[in-house]
Amino acid sequence: MLRSDYCGTLTEGDEGRLVSVCGWVASRREHGQHLAFVDLRDHTGIIQCVVDGAQDLRPEYVLRITGPVRRRKAGTANSALATGDVELGDCEVEVLSVAEPPPFPIGDRVEADETVRLRHRYLDLRRDRMQRNLRLRARVNSALRRSMEAQGFVEIETPMLIASTPEGARDFVVPSRLHPGSFYALPQSPQLFKQLCMVGGFDRYYQVARCLRDEDLRADRQFEFLQLDVEASFVDQEDVLGFITVAVAAATEEATGTAPAPFGRMTWAEASERYGTDKPDVRFGMELVDLTPVFSETGFNAFKAPAVKGIRVPGGGDTTRNRLDALTDKAKQFGAKGLVWMRVGPDRVLDSPVARFVSADEQASLAATLAADPGDLLLIVADERPKVNHVLGLLRLELGRPPVNDGGFNFLWVTEFPLFEGLGDDGRPIPAHHPFTMPHPDDVHLLESDPLAVRSQAYDLVLNGWELGSGSVRIHRRDVQERVLGLLGIGPEEAQARFGFLLDAFRYGAPPHAGFAFGIDRLVALLAGEENIREVIAFPKTQSGADPLTRAPQPLDPLQLAELGIRVLPPKA
Ligand code: AMO
Ligand code: AMP
Repeated sequence: MLRSDYCGTLTEGDEGRLVSVCGWVASRREHGQHLAFVDLRDHTGIIQCVVDGAQDLRPEYVLRITGPVRRRKAGTANSALATGDVELGDCEVEVLSVAEPPPFPIGDRVEADETVRLRHRYLDLRRDRMQRNLRLRARVNSALRRSMEAQGFVEIETPMLIASTPEGARDFVVPSRLHPGSFYALPQSPQLFKQLCMVGGFDRYYQVARCLRDEDLRADRQFEFLQLDVEASFVDQEDVLGFITVAVAAATEEATGTAPAPFGRMTWAEASERYGTDKPDVRFGMELVDLTPVFSETGFNAFKAPAVKGIRVPGGGDTTRNRLDALTDKAKQFGAKGLVWMRVGPDRVLDSPVARFVSADEQASLAATLAADPGDLLLIVADERPKVNHVLGLLRLELGRPPVNDGGFNFLWVTEFPLFEGLGDDGRPIPAHHPFTMPHPDDVHLLESDPLAVRSQAYDLVLNGWELGSGSVRIHRRDVQERVLGLLGIGPEEAQARFGFLLDAFRYGAPPHAGFAFGIDRLVALLAGEENIREVIAFPKTQSGADPLTRAPQPLDPLQLAELGIRVLPPKA
């Protein structure tokens, strides 16, 4: 090995040792006429080295430096560095590689443009932040694997070139050369294969699985991402929540050094009512309060609606008129017909442009129901109940959401999701999770008559307002699966064509089974205190789905297209 020690690990205890370190030049400062200080960097940190000033050593040159560890002269110690009390003196320097000036400084203090960072990701990876994040990611992955294995789960790899698995996104497709005109889909998840593993008798399966979905990218979404994917037989919902809680807690403890607080628990209905979302950020209050009874006999037209609810913004009374107008516009973008705001003055007198339409009794009852204090701001929306919840839930986040690394790790299980989240344009129900989710046994008879009232056995894990993962008890009976597919407009022939392999497997003895998958990128991002999962992925895509480093995606050359039997249409105007 070229090195005896890592740069960042040397301390006074090493004084007198002759060591060799390897790394990149972080900086160089001249010291008198003949000497220079070179700060050498590796992933553990920086060590100051005193070198011959005549040597040409520039930033990002790769060096091997050999010299004795010595205490720095009195008054020259650098308390900002872990190695700040020592340096390497009388160094012998070997240049292993020269380097052109980097397009951005590697030091963490300078923010570089995202596209430039990604085009030169190999330089970005040298920075502290990326080193920390990717090493954390590796530890989290390893802790998850250890935990699943300790719980008796077996890792099985499922294929990447498959027929479509519906998870609600578009497929990435791969043309087949041997079957021109036919295409593989890349897996949106291993969902159907893991269910087949259950039929195959692997009663505890897991996989650190790469999934691909062609959907619009956001802070918590990439085209390709990693799931901890889990399935087990002869278990119920509570067992699955238990397996996942153990694994996620182990990963969190590995990352933070402390076990997370006990995971909270809430039904979907409660989450919608109190937080206006199925992924509540429970780090802060500002819960949605039902005001419908307060306005049951109101003369104010805007509040004559099936539901009226409000939130209280503590101390928000000094919000400017401009900001209130902006919030009203936001509420309308979110789908509201309008937004009523009220400032709570001394003696709980309400100040609002619509105060004169709201009776004194209603005002008093409103202030009491919201537990309003002088200085607060109250925001009220009236509409159909789901719309009110949705709009206030988003306003709540807009006004109260703490930064990502604030308030610890609040894991929350949300259970009892409905089977369908609503009706699509075609009048067909849309699965809240996916079509393989078992309806609640008490609601199966409602499947055809009142599908939106059917509860499911689906559950989500939420962390600080991010959906971390989803799972469900699965349908393991062919007849029930056919009924649910039928409701989705997938008739017996189409069902056989698309999912025949699953339905057929169910003919041969399918055990009851249930499972879960959560996004490892999301978990790592939150554990690392990052707002965007790109910061915990070595080579991510930009917001527009491009890779500035390799310049993917790219056109295919005509020969390759011909071989695949593909003709490309000109881009749509
Ligand atoms: P679901 O579609 O909810 O469930 O996905 C599970 C988790 O995967 C993560 N995830 C993503 N992460 C980053 N980028 C994306 N584009 C992306 N899409 C999803 C999320 C999400 O919660 N087969 C089912 C699971 C099951 O039922 O067992 C499934 O894939 O964290
Ligand atoms: P309008 O009656 O449309 O002039 O609205 C009077 C006030 O009530 C305005 O401040 C609107 O933003 C507000 N408003 C109207 N409809 C609603 C609603 N459904 N929920 C909450 N506020 C509303």
